[in-house]
Amino acid sequence: MRLLEQRILKEGKAYSEDILRVDTFINHQVDPELMHKCAREFASHFRGQGITKVVTIESSGISPAVLTALEMGIPLVILKKQPSKVLNDNLFQTMVTSFTKGTNYELTLSKDVIGENDHVLIIDDFLANGEAVTGAVRLLRMAHATVAGVGILIEKSFQPGREKLMDAGFEVYSLARIASMAKDSITFE
Ligand code: G4P
Repeated sequence: MRLLEQRILKEGKAYSEDILRVDTFINHQVDPELMHKCAREFASHFRGQGITKVVTIESSGISPAVLTALEMGIPLVILKKQPSKVLNDNLFQTMVTSFTKGTNYELTLSKDVIGENDHVLIIDDFLANGEAVTGAVRLLRMAHATVAGVGILIEKSFQPGREKLMDAGFEVYSLARIASMAKDSITFE
């Protein structure tokens, strides 16, 4: 999506070959108009597939995901990174390792919000190694839901996330695909 690519070129900061900072429009400050346009693009791409819910992983996926859910007229489910004390005995959980941040967390889904009749669109801000989305898929399988596809704002195509998800049979629709980065230079696919 040209608009997102232009914004990345204008305001994104490639601090290294691996990490792109987008704190002024996605990760810290959010540009709601840009997120709404991205959401419309996801909604129009995935429309007509019988999708019942949008699912995202907290926290930066929430803004594009809630607007996509609004556009599609369906609920949003936010996968939590820590089990809620009040929901504890009614949860699916799976461990996710974040290579970028060097952390592990328990991704958590309440049994009350996703079930076997759900056909889900997963939305997230970044696709790097695909660990977060793969964890989300594990939880959705525990709930016997099916996955329609994965919508991503920024894919780092030089990392293995897309390949991993495509090998598992999922469609990955990314609005900006970064082929390579170096300090202060970004190249799209
Ligand atoms: P993966 O899910 O694709 O495997 O990615 P990985 O574990 O390597 O990255 C985990 C976290 O780091 C995710 O955020 C992801 O959005 C973020 N991330 C990965 N690459 C970049 C990057 O180049 N720039 C920025 N700004 N973030 C990146 P998270 O831990 O889920 O936290 P949150 O930001 O959603 O709260």
